[in-house]
Amino acid sequence: TTITWNAESAEKGGYAHFTLKEIYEQPKALRDTMTSRIVPGQPIKLDDIHITREMLLHYSRIYIVACGTAYNAGLIGKVAMENLSRIPVEVDVASEFRYRNPLIDNRTLVITISQSGETADTLAVLRDAQTKGARVIAITNVVGSSISREADDVFYTWAGPEIGVASTKAYLTMLVALYAIGIHFAELLDTKTAEELDAIKKELLTLPEKVAEILAHVEKVKDFAQRIHGEKDVFFLGRGLDYQIAVEASLKLKELSYIHSEAYAGGELKHGSIALIEDGISVIAPITQRDLTEKMQSNIKEVVSRGAKVMAVTYAENEDVAKYADEVIYIPSTLDLIAPILAVVPLQLLAYYVALYKGLDVDKPRNLAKSVTVE
Ligand code: G6P
Repeated sequence: TTITWNAESAEKGGYAHFTLKEIYEQPKALRDTMTSRIVPGQPIKLDDIHITREMLLHYSRIYIVACGTAYNAGLIGKVAMENLSRIPVEVDVASEFRYRNPLIDNRTLVITISQSGETADTLAVLRDAQTKGARVIAITNVVGSSISREADDVFYTWAGPEIGVASTKAYLTMLVALYAIGIHFAELLDTKTAEELDAIKKELLTLPEKVAEILAHVEKVKDFAQRIHGEKDVFFLGRGLDYQIAVEASLKLKELSYIHSEAYAGGELKHGSIALIEDGISVIAPITQRDLTEKMQSNIKEVVSRGAKVMAVTYAENEDVAKYADEVIYIPSTLDLIAPILAVVPLQLLAYYVALYKGLDVDKPRNLAKSVTVE
Protein backbone atom coordinates (compact mmCIF):
# COMPACT_ATOMS: atom_id res chain seq x y z
CA THR A 1 0.00 0.00 0.00
CA THR A 2 1.02 3.56 -0.60
CA ILE A 3 0.29 6.34 1.79
CA THR A 4 -0.70 9.58 0.10
CA TRP A 5 0.83 12.40 2.01
CA ASN A 6 1.71 15.92 1.13
CA ALA A 7 3.01 18.87 3.04
CA GLU A 8 -0.22 20.84 2.71
CA SER A 9 -2.53 18.18 4.12
CA ALA A 10 -0.08 17.66 6.95
CA GLU A 11 -0.17 21.37 7.73
CA LYS A 12 -3.95 21.26 7.87
CA GLY A 13 -3.61 18.80 10.73
CA GLY A 14 -6.51 16.61 9.66
CA TYR A 15 -8.91 19.46 8.87
CA ALA A 16 -10.36 19.78 5.37
CA HIS A 17 -9.37 23.44 5.16
CA PHE A 18 -7.11 25.94 6.86
CA THR A 19 -10.17 28.07 7.56
CA LEU A 20 -11.79 25.28 9.57
CA LYS A 21 -8.54 24.49 11.34
CA GLU A 22 -8.16 28.14 12.26
CA ILE A 23 -11.72 28.35 13.56
CA TYR A 24 -10.94 25.36 15.78
CA GLU A 25 -7.68 26.93 16.93
CA GLN A 26 -9.57 29.83 18.47
CA PRO A 27 -9.61 28.58 22.06
CA LYS A 28 -5.81 28.31 21.95
CA ALA A 29 -5.42 31.64 20.17
CA LEU A 30 -7.53 33.35 22.84
CA ARG A 31 -5.61 31.68 25.64
CA ASP A 32 -2.23 32.57 24.17
CA THR A 33 -3.27 36.19 23.67
CA MET A 34 -4.55 36.55 27.24
CA THR A 35 -1.85 34.62 29.08
CA SER A 36 0.37 36.79 31.28
CA ARG A 37 -1.55 39.91 30.24
CA ILE A 38 -4.88 39.28 31.92
CA VAL A 39 -4.61 38.03 35.49
CA PRO A 40 -7.44 38.60 37.98
CA GLY A 41 -6.35 40.67 40.95
CA GLN A 42 -3.54 42.25 38.96
CA PRO A 43 -3.38 45.22 36.61
CA ILE A 44 -3.41 44.37 32.91
CA LYS A 45 0.16 43.85 31.75
CA LEU A 46 0.99 45.21 28.31
CA ASP A 47 4.74 45.08 27.82
CA ASP A 48 4.92 47.02 24.58
CA ILE A 49 2.41 49.76 25.37
CA HIS A 50 3.94 52.69 27.22
CA ILE A 51 1.04 55.01 27.84
CA THR A 52 0.75 56.75 31.19
CA ARG A 53 -2.23 58.22 33.00
CA GLU A 54 -0.92 61.74 32.18
CA MET A 55 -0.75 60.93 28.49
CA LEU A 56 -4.27 59.50 28.49
CA LEU A 57 -5.65 62.57 30.26
CA HIS A 58 -4.09 64.68 27.53
CA TYR A 59 -5.75 62.82 24.64
CA SER A 60 -9.02 64.29 23.44
CA ARG A 61 -9.98 61.26 21.40
CA ILE A 62 -8.99 57.89 20.05
CA TYR A 63 -9.29 56.87 16.41
CA ILE A 64 -9.37 53.18 15.59
CA VAL A 65 -8.43 52.69 11.95
CA ALA A 66 -8.25 49.45 9.95
CA CYS A 67 -9.56 47.54 6.91
CA GLY A 68 -11.83 44.54 6.41
CA THR A 69 -12.27 42.24 9.34
CA ALA A 70 -9.81 44.27 11.39
CA TYR A 71 -12.13 47.27 10.91
CA ASN A 72 -15.04 45.14 12.12
CA ALA A 73 -13.02 44.33 15.25
CA GLY A 74 -12.56 48.07 15.67
CA LEU A 75 -16.35 48.56 15.72
CA ILE A 76 -16.51 46.39 18.82
CA GLY A 77 -13.39 48.07 20.20
CA LYS A 78 -15.09 51.46 20.07
CA VAL A 79 -18.03 50.33 22.16
CA ALA A 80 -15.80 48.43 24.60
CA MET A 81 -13.28 51.22 25.00
CA GLU A 82 -15.80 54.02 25.42
CA ASN A 83 -17.60 51.92 27.99
CA LEU A 84 -14.50 51.05 29.94
CA SER A 85 -12.43 54.22 29.73
CA ARG A 86 -15.03 56.91 28.83
CA ILE A 87 -12.67 58.36 26.20
CA PRO A 88 -14.45 59.23 22.93
CA VAL A 89 -13.52 56.73 20.23
CA GLU A 90 -14.16 56.94 16.50
CA VAL A 91 -13.68 54.05 14.08
CA ASP A 92 -12.95 54.44 10.41
CA VAL A 93 -11.81 52.37 7.45
CA ALA A 94 -8.24 53.29 6.57
CA SER A 95 -8.93 54.07 2.91
CA GLU A 96 -11.59 56.63 3.93
CA PHE A 97 -9.77 58.07 6.91
CA ARG A 98 -6.68 58.82 4.83
CA TYR A 99 -8.51 61.10 2.45
CA ARG A 100 -10.95 62.90 4.68
CA ASN A 101 -8.53 65.26 6.35
CA PRO A 102 -9.21 63.89 9.83
CA LEU A 103 -8.64 65.96 12.96
CA ILE A 104 -5.28 64.65 14.10
CA ASP A 105 -2.80 66.39 16.36
CA ASN A 106 -0.70 65.56 19.38
CA ARG A 107 -3.86 65.14 21.43
CA THR A 108 -4.95 62.22 19.26
CA LEU A 109 -4.27 58.58 19.98
CA VAL A 110 -4.56 56.32 16.94
CA ILE A 111 -5.02 52.56 17.18
CA THR A 112 -4.36 50.73 13.93
CA ILE A 113 -5.44 47.10 13.68
CA SER A 114 -3.95 44.78 11.08
CA GLN A 115 -3.53 41.02 11.14
CA SER A 116 -0.71 41.11 8.58
CA GLY A 117 0.73 44.44 9.65
CA GLU A 118 1.26 45.19 5.96
CA THR A 119 -2.04 46.60 4.66
CA ALA A 120 -1.13 49.62 2.54
CA ASP A 121 -3.96 51.94 3.60
CA THR A 122 -3.54 51.15 7.29
CA LEU A 123 0.21 51.72 7.10
CA ALA A 124 -0.37 55.04 5.34
CA VAL A 125 -2.72 56.17 8.12
CA LEU A 126 -0.12 55.25 10.73
CA ARG A 127 2.54 57.32 8.96
CA ASP A 128 0.26 60.34 8.39
CA ALA A 129 -0.88 60.29 11.99
CA GLN A 130 2.67 60.24 13.32
CA THR A 131 3.63 63.10 10.99
CA LYS A 132 0.81 65.13 12.51
CA GLY A 133 2.01 64.43 16.04
CA ALA A 134 -0.29 61.59 17.06
CA ARG A 135 0.84 58.53 18.95
CA VAL A 136 0.02 55.20 17.31
CA ILE A 137 -0.69 51.85 18.94
CA ALA A 138 -0.62 48.90 16.54
CA ILE A 139 -2.59 45.72 17.13
CA THR A 140 -1.07 43.11 14.83
CA ASN A 141 -0.51 39.40 14.51
CA VAL A 142 2.83 39.53 12.72
CA VAL A 143 5.99 40.21 14.66
CA GLY A 144 8.35 42.46 12.74
CA SER A 145 5.69 43.57 10.21
CA SER A 146 5.92 47.13 8.84
CA ILE A 147 3.09 48.34 11.06
CA SER A 148 4.61 46.75 14.17
CA ARG A 149 7.98 48.33 13.45
CA GLU A 150 6.69 51.83 12.84
CA ALA A 151 4.10 52.10 15.60
CA ASP A 152 4.92 53.75 18.93
CA ASP A 153 3.27 50.98 20.91
CA VAL A 154 2.42 47.42 19.92
CA PHE A 155 -0.03 44.77 21.04
CA TYR A 156 0.81 41.44 19.43
CA THR A 157 -2.08 39.05 19.08
CA TRP A 158 -0.82 35.52 19.46
CA ALA A 159 -3.21 33.88 17.01
CA GLY A 160 -0.39 32.11 15.16
CA PRO A 161 -0.13 32.10 11.36
CA GLU A 162 -3.46 32.60 9.63
CA ILE A 163 -3.53 31.03 6.16
CA GLY A 164 -7.24 31.14 5.27
CA VAL A 165 -7.96 34.37 3.41
CA ALA A 166 -11.03 35.11 5.52
CA SER A 167 -9.89 36.13 8.97
CA THR A 168 -11.23 34.11 11.90
CA LYS A 169 -8.85 33.47 14.76
CA ALA A 170 -7.02 36.75 14.19
CA TYR A 171 -10.34 38.59 14.55
CA LEU A 172 -11.09 36.95 17.90
CA THR A 173 -7.67 37.85 19.26
CA MET A 174 -8.05 41.44 18.00
CA LEU A 175 -11.15 41.64 20.19
CA VAL A 176 -9.13 40.41 23.16
CA ALA A 177 -6.52 43.08 22.41
CA LEU A 178 -9.15 45.81 22.36
CA TYR A 179 -10.74 44.63 25.61
CA ALA A 180 -7.31 44.40 27.26
CA ILE A 181 -6.33 47.91 26.16
CA GLY A 182 -9.75 49.20 27.25
CA ILE A 183 -9.36 47.66 30.70
CA HIS A 184 -5.80 49.01 30.92
CA PHE A 185 -7.06 52.53 30.17
CA ALA A 186 -9.87 52.12 32.71
CA GLU A 187 -7.26 51.18 35.29
CA LEU A 188 -5.14 54.21 34.45
CA LEU A 189 -8.13 56.56 34.54
CA ASP A 190 -10.07 54.99 37.43
CA THR A 191 -13.23 54.90 35.38
CA LYS A 192 -14.27 51.50 36.80
CA THR A 193 -13.76 49.89 40.18
CA ALA A 194 -11.17 47.17 40.61
CA GLU A 195 -14.06 44.75 41.32
CA GLU A 196 -15.83 45.60 38.08
CA LEU A 197 -12.65 45.14 36.07
CA ASP A 198 -11.78 41.95 37.87
CA ALA A 199 -15.15 40.49 36.98
CA ILE A 200 -14.47 41.21 33.31
CA LYS A 201 -10.95 39.73 33.49
CA LYS A 202 -12.24 36.56 35.12
CA GLU A 203 -14.97 36.18 32.55
CA LEU A 204 -12.55 36.78 29.65
CA LEU A 205 -10.45 33.91 30.94
CA THR A 206 -13.43 31.54 30.73
CA LEU A 207 -14.00 32.26 27.04
CA PRO A 208 -11.51 29.77 25.54
CA GLU A 209 -13.44 26.96 27.17
CA LYS A 210 -16.79 28.42 26.12
CA VAL A 211 -15.61 28.76 22.53
CA ALA A 212 -14.47 25.11 22.65
CA GLU A 213 -17.96 24.17 23.84
CA ILE A 214 -19.53 25.96 20.86
CA LEU A 215 -17.11 24.20 18.50
CA ALA A 216 -18.07 20.82 19.93
CA HIS A 217 -21.75 21.20 18.92
CA VAL A 218 -22.06 22.25 15.31
CA GLU A 219 -24.91 20.07 14.02
CA LYS A 220 -27.53 22.82 14.05
CA VAL A 221 -25.19 25.24 12.32
CA LYS A 222 -24.56 22.66 9.60
CA ASP A 223 -28.32 22.08 9.19
CA PHE A 224 -28.95 25.78 8.77
CA ALA A 225 -26.05 26.08 6.33
CA GLN A 226 -27.60 23.26 4.32
CA ARG A 227 -30.93 25.08 4.29
CA ILE A 228 -29.60 28.43 3.12
CA HIS A 229 -26.76 27.46 0.80
CA GLY A 230 -28.87 27.94 -2.32
CA GLU A 231 -30.03 31.42 -1.44
CA LYS A 232 -29.18 34.72 -3.07
CA ASP A 233 -29.72 37.14 -0.20
CA VAL A 234 -29.37 36.76 3.54
CA PHE A 235 -29.95 39.38 6.21
CA PHE A 236 -28.25 39.79 9.54
CA LEU A 237 -29.95 41.75 12.28
CA GLY A 238 -28.62 42.88 15.65
CA ARG A 239 -28.72 45.63 18.25
CA GLY A 240 -25.84 47.06 20.25
CA LEU A 241 -22.77 44.84 20.07
CA ASP A 242 -24.88 42.26 18.25
CA TYR A 243 -25.09 44.70 15.37
CA GLN A 244 -21.29 44.85 15.12
CA ILE A 245 -21.25 41.04 15.20
CA ALA A 246 -23.87 41.01 12.46
CA VAL A 247 -21.55 43.19 10.36
CA GLU A 248 -18.65 40.76 10.74
CA ALA A 249 -20.85 37.68 10.24
CA SER A 250 -22.24 39.20 7.06
CA LEU A 251 -18.74 39.92 5.73
CA LYS A 252 -17.68 36.34 6.52
CA LEU A 253 -20.68 34.91 4.64
CA LYS A 254 -20.02 37.13 1.61
CA GLU A 255 -16.31 36.34 1.50
CA LEU A 256 -16.66 32.59 1.84
CA SER A 257 -19.99 31.77 0.16
CA TYR A 258 -20.54 34.62 -2.35
CA ILE A 259 -24.09 35.00 -1.07
CA HIS A 260 -25.17 38.61 -0.97
CA SER A 261 -25.78 39.58 2.61
CA GLU A 262 -26.28 42.70 4.62
CA ALA A 263 -26.26 43.57 8.28
CA TYR A 264 -28.84 45.89 9.75
CA ALA A 265 -29.25 47.46 13.14
CA GLY A 266 -32.56 46.22 14.56
CA GLY A 267 -33.88 49.73 15.08
CA GLU A 268 -33.18 50.63 11.45
CA LEU A 269 -35.34 47.83 10.10
CA LYS A 270 -38.38 50.09 9.87
CA HIS A 271 -36.37 52.73 8.04
CA GLY A 272 -36.06 50.87 4.80
CA SER A 273 -34.68 47.38 5.02
CA ILE A 274 -38.00 45.86 6.03
CA ALA A 275 -39.08 46.48 2.44
CA LEU A 276 -36.73 43.66 1.46
CA ILE A 277 -38.21 41.11 3.83
CA GLU A 278 -40.45 38.72 1.92
CA ASP A 279 -41.66 35.18 2.17
CA GLY A 280 -38.88 32.66 2.70
CA ILE A 281 -36.02 35.13 3.19
CA SER A 282 -33.39 34.14 5.79
CA VAL A 283 -32.63 36.41 8.70
CA ILE A 284 -29.82 35.65 11.12
CA ALA A 285 -29.91 37.34 14.50
CA PRO A 286 -27.32 37.26 17.27
CA ILE A 287 -29.07 38.14 20.55
CA THR A 288 -26.64 38.56 23.44
CA GLN A 289 -27.26 42.06 24.75
CA ARG A 290 -29.59 41.59 27.70
CA ASP A 291 -30.97 45.16 27.74
CA LEU A 292 -31.94 44.81 24.11
CA THR A 293 -33.29 41.26 24.04
CA GLU A 294 -36.92 42.32 24.15
CA LYS A 295 -36.45 44.84 21.40
CA MET A 296 -34.76 42.22 19.25
CA GLN A 297 -37.64 39.86 19.88
CA SER A 298 -40.05 42.44 18.49
CA ASN A 299 -37.80 42.86 15.46
CA ILE A 300 -37.83 39.12 14.94
CA LYS A 301 -41.62 39.01 15.18
CA GLU A 302 -41.77 41.76 12.57
CA VAL A 303 -39.72 39.80 10.07
CA VAL A 304 -41.33 36.45 10.88
CA SER A 305 -44.79 37.90 10.27
CA ARG A 306 -43.55 38.82 6.79
CA GLY A 307 -42.47 35.26 6.10
CA ALA A 308 -38.79 35.32 7.09
CA LYS A 309 -37.14 32.24 8.51
CA VAL A 310 -34.94 33.19 11.40
CA MET A 311 -31.84 31.69 12.90
CA ALA A 312 -30.97 33.20 16.27
CA VAL A 313 -27.77 32.88 18.26
CA THR A 314 -28.46 33.42 21.94
CA TYR A 315 -27.98 32.22 25.52
CA ALA A 316 -29.91 29.17 26.74
CA GLU A 317 -31.58 31.44 29.33
CA ASN A 318 -33.46 33.22 26.52
CA GLU A 319 -36.11 30.53 26.22
CA ASP A 320 -38.58 32.86 24.52
CA VAL A 321 -36.42 33.21 21.43
CA ALA A 322 -37.26 29.65 20.34
CA LYS A 323 -40.91 30.68 20.13
CA TYR A 324 -40.22 33.00 17.21
CA ALA A 325 -37.06 31.73 15.58
CA ASP A 326 -37.01 28.62 13.36
CA GLU A 327 -33.60 27.62 14.56
CA VAL A 328 -31.78 28.67 17.71
CA ILE A 329 -28.08 28.15 18.29
CA TYR A 330 -27.32 28.34 21.99
CA ILE A 331 -24.04 29.72 23.26
CA PRO A 332 -22.77 29.69 26.85
CA SER A 333 -23.78 32.65 28.96
CA THR A 334 -21.29 35.50 29.48
CA LEU A 335 -21.08 39.25 30.14
CA ASP A 336 -22.78 41.33 27.43
CA LEU A 337 -19.64 43.40 26.87
CA ILE A 338 -17.53 40.44 25.81
CA ALA A 339 -20.29 38.32 24.24
CA PRO A 340 -19.09 39.10 20.69
CA ILE A 341 -16.18 36.69 21.21
CA LEU A 342 -18.71 33.87 21.57
CA ALA A 343 -21.52 35.00 19.30
CA VAL A 344 -19.37 35.28 16.19
CA VAL A 345 -18.11 31.69 16.35
CA PRO A 346 -21.26 29.87 15.14
CA LEU A 347 -21.58 32.49 12.42
CA GLN A 348 -18.02 31.86 11.21
CA LEU A 349 -18.91 28.17 11.06
CA LEU A 350 -22.11 28.96 9.20
CA ALA A 351 -20.16 30.85 6.51
CA TYR A 352 -17.68 27.99 6.30
CA TYR A 353 -20.34 25.30 5.88
CA VAL A 354 -22.37 27.28 3.37
CA ALA A 355 -19.21 27.63 1.25
CA LEU A 356 -18.46 23.95 1.71
CA TYR A 357 -21.96 22.87 0.60
CA LYS A 358 -21.60 25.12 -2.44
CA GLY A 359 -18.32 23.43 -3.28
CA LEU A 360 -16.31 26.65 -3.17
CA ASP A 361 -12.64 27.21 -2.51
CA VAL A 362 -13.01 28.06 1.16
CA ASP A 363 -9.39 28.92 1.88
CA LYS A 364 -8.93 31.09 -1.20
CA PRO A 365 -12.19 32.78 -2.14
CA ARG A 366 -12.26 34.30 -5.63
CA ASN A 367 -10.85 37.81 -6.09
CA LEU A 368 -9.65 38.14 -2.51
CA ALA A 369 -6.12 38.38 -1.16
CA LYS A 370 -4.92 37.63 2.34
CA SER A 371 -3.16 40.93 2.54
CA VAL A 372 -3.70 44.03 0.41
CA THR A 373 -0.31 45.68 0.18
CA VAL A 374 -1.08 48.01 -2.71
CA GLU A 375 -3.79 50.60 -2.80
C1 G6P B 1 -7.84 41.59 3.23
C2 G6P B 1 -8.18 40.24 3.81
C3 G6P B 1 -9.11 40.41 5.02
C4 G6P B 1 -8.49 41.34 6.04
C5 G6P B 1 -8.11 42.69 5.42
C6 G6P B 1 -7.27 43.52 6.36
O1 G6P B 1 -8.99 42.15 2.68
O2 G6P B 1 -8.80 39.43 2.84
O3 G6P B 1 -9.35 39.14 5.61
O4 G6P B 1 -9.39 41.54 7.08
O5 G6P B 1 -7.33 42.47 4.25
O6 G6P B 1 -6.05 42.86 6.57
P1 G6P B 1 -5.09 43.13 7.78
O7 G6P B 1 -3.92 42.25 7.56
O8 G6P B 1 -4.72 44.60 7.73
O9 G6P B 1 -5.84 42.82 9.03
